[in-house]
Parts: sequence; C-alpha cells; structure tokens
Amino acid sequence: MTVDLLLGLQWGDEGKGKIVDVLTSKYDIIARFQGGPNAGHTLEFDGIKHVLRTIPSGIFHANSVNIIGNGVVMDPVVFQKELEGLEKFNMDVKSKLLISRKAHLILPTHRLLDAASEASKGKAKIGSTLKGIGPTYMDKTGRNGIRIGDIELADFKERYRSLADKHEAMISFYDVDLQYDLKELEDEFFASIEVLKTLTFIDSEEYLNQAIKAGKSILCEGAQGSLLDIDFGTYPFVTSSNTTAAGACTGLGIAPNKVKEVFGIFKAYTTRVGSGPFPTELFDEDGQTMARVGNEFGSVTGRARRCGWLDLVALKYAVQVNGVTALYMMKGDVLSGFKTLKICTAYRYKGEKISHFPYNIEPENVEPIYQEMKGWQADLTGMTSYNELPQELKTYIEFIEKELEVPIKVVSVGPDRKQTILR
Ligand code: IMP
Repeated sequence: MTVDLLLGLQWGDEGKGKIVDVLTSKYDIIARFQGGPNAGHTLEFDGIKHVLRTIPSGIFHANSVNIIGNGVVMDPVVFQKELEGLEKFNMDVKSKLLISRKAHLILPTHRLLDAASEASKGKAKIGSTLKGIGPTYMDKTGRNGIRIGDIELADFKERYRSLADKHEAMISFYDVDLQYDLKELEDEFFASIEVLKTLTFIDSEEYLNQAIKAGKSILCEGAQGSLLDIDFGTYPFVTSSNTTAAGACTGLGIAPNKVKEVFGIFKAYTTRVGSGPFPTELFDEDGQTMARVGNEFGSVTGRARRCGWLDLVALKYAVQVNGVTALYMMKGDVLSGFKTLKICTAYRYKGEKISHFPYNIEPENVEPIYQEMKGWQADLTGMTSYNELPQELKTYIEFIEKELEVPIKVVSVGPDRKQTILR
C-alpha cells in the first residue's frame, strides 16, 4: 500500500501532467483531488501533445484507474470535449475513469458569474481563467451547490433551475454588460449531462479506502500550485481550492497518516499567469527569453505567462506547507544560454532582510535579494543521464537542494516523456 502526493510548488504550470504521466506505471490509481477545468495538464509523447483539464493524467496508461475526487469541480461541457478529444485517439476512457458523486458541478451560470465578478473588479481583477471555479466553490461552501450524485436524483432539473435562477438574479446585481444566451448554454449543458451519465459515478472515498486496504498504490494529483492555495497562496490572487497537501486528504477522503511521499514539482525559474504579486518577475530581455524558449503561454487560456528568476523564499514556504519529501525540477533546458543566473534567497521586507514568506508580498513591501550563479550554454534536450549535465547546472541543482533541505530526484530537460533524467 502506498499513497503519494504530487503537487505544484509555485503558481501552477510547473509540469505536473508530464510527471504524473511518467510516474503512472508505478501506481494502480491516479486521483485528482481539487480544482477543475482551470487546469491544463500537458503531456507529450509519440510527437503528440495532449492537454487534460479534469481527467487525471494517468489516463494514457492501460492499467491505471483514474479517479476524479470529491474535491474537484466539474464542468460537463468541458468534460465532454475532453472526452471526445481522447476518444479520437481510440482511447477507452470510460472503462478507466471513475467520478466521485461528491464532486461539484459547474453550471453555465457559474461561468457567467465568474465573468461578471471579474468584469466588475476592473484593474483589481484576479485574472481568473473564467471557468466558473470561484462561484462553484462558493456554492459548495455556501451549501447551495449541485453535486455529480444529484444527476441521479429525480429532481435534478428542479435543483438546477432553482440554483440557475438564483445565479441570474445575482448576475443582475453586477453593474456590467454581460451578453449571453442562457437557453443555448443550457441546451449544451444538458446534452453534456447525458454524456456524463454514461460514465461511472462512485463513492470515491469508500473506493479509495478499500483500495488502500487491498494494498493498492495511489498517486494523488494536484492542480494549480501552492502559491495559488486559497489559504496559503497570495490571497486574493489565488484559486478557490486547497492546492496544498491537505487538499488531497479533504479532496479524496484519505487520512493524513496514509500519505507517504509528497513530490513537489517546480520550474527551474518562476512563472505566473493572471494578476497578483510576483517578487522575482522580470520585465527585461531575460524574462522575454524565458517566455520564448519556455513557450510560456497558458494551456487553457493562451495568455502569456509572466516570467522571473527562481524564488527560494517562496519555494521553501511551499516545501514546508506541503511536507515535500522529493523535488522534481522542470524545464532546466530553458535556462541554457544565460551567462548569469539569479536565485532569490531572501527578501528585503519593509527594509529588513527576511528569509520567510510574509503575510503580504506586494512590490511596495518586498524586494528580492539575489545570489548570482554561472549559467551554462549546452543544449540539454538530448541528455539522458545526470552525468551528462553541465557542471554549472549541477551546481545550480545542488545549491537549491541545500537551501530547501530536500533532494531533487528528477530533472526534466524537455516536454517529452523521454526527456526526464532520474537521479
Ligand atoms: P481561477 O481558478 O480560474 O479562478 O483563477 C484564479 C487564479 O489562478 C488566476 O490567477 C489564474 O490565472 C490562476 N490559475 C488557475 N488555474 C491555473 C492553472 O492551472 N495554472 C496556472 N494558473 C492558474
């Protein structure tokens, strides 16, 4: 029996999808525990790129069971498209995917509420992916939500109507010009509900705990990143779920004492999409180079990602909050060609040097303090063993390990499954 967690340590987009895919063959079950179609987990193999939104990244392996846990919010319309996209590759998704009855449904009006809320905020907007995530989790905690299991109830349509009517009234409170055709959105929604009904709904906490008793191994897959966590992220510029390790326990019904390893994924630099503070953000050519070489555009929204140097203060915080036991460093190849690299090792916070992540990291309070390191020029994308890596990169890796007091077990040097160096 093993339960391990895999999660992002920065502001999302660390490359979790690729690593889940690489690790999947070791696990019987892959379970997503939070978030929804705001996620875009990218996997590349055999020259094809797949972007998964709600479906766990273990779906490409023949023998793994994939579970959408109770902590996830699901949009049936997006799900239907995702399903059809995979079925084009002759994949039998339905027999390998189980959905928690306790996961919450994203209604079309949740998406509209998200859009109205963001538009009303003007410059203070969160930069949401507008997938209805915030409003759906609001209804969940407000005890008004509709769950997957409700689809099986006789009064599902009445429940839907009552909540959608309430949402329409709420939308009218916002002083924004939102154009929409609800009838059209609802037709699409109910058609996709019929597709969803062809999948298997389960009491996933029961299923998972029985699996643990039977000695099965489970990998819990997180979405977004630790700095977007509703409690520990850069609030209010966060998502609406617990993206950190605790979210796996509540989002799957797995007790903390069952969890063994916590794999923390991070990029060799930092990116952020959407609004919010980012102390090491670059506005110069170096930032543009990272964006270009790293192809830093959102897999869900296509928005350009903001880029900056690695922030060890933020990473140390994420390692601590999650109890990370092994680190996976992604996109090392993107840093090839820089003469000098910088790593933020402390902040000057209101004039004082600190090494912890404070309450507020707004630019007026925080200035990063950097350690400079020599860069490397070699192209890493064809390298397959740690020994081949340039000495400067090894020094970079060892410096990070020492600061974070956790070993870096994997160095990724390209998007393909094969471009993964194990240490
Ligand atoms: P929401 O979760 O769509 O409401 O977005 C809230 C914030 O989290 C915004 O800044 C988004 O850009 C960010 N965000 C949400 N999901 C992801 C993700 O999967 N990767 C990176 N950023 C994300």
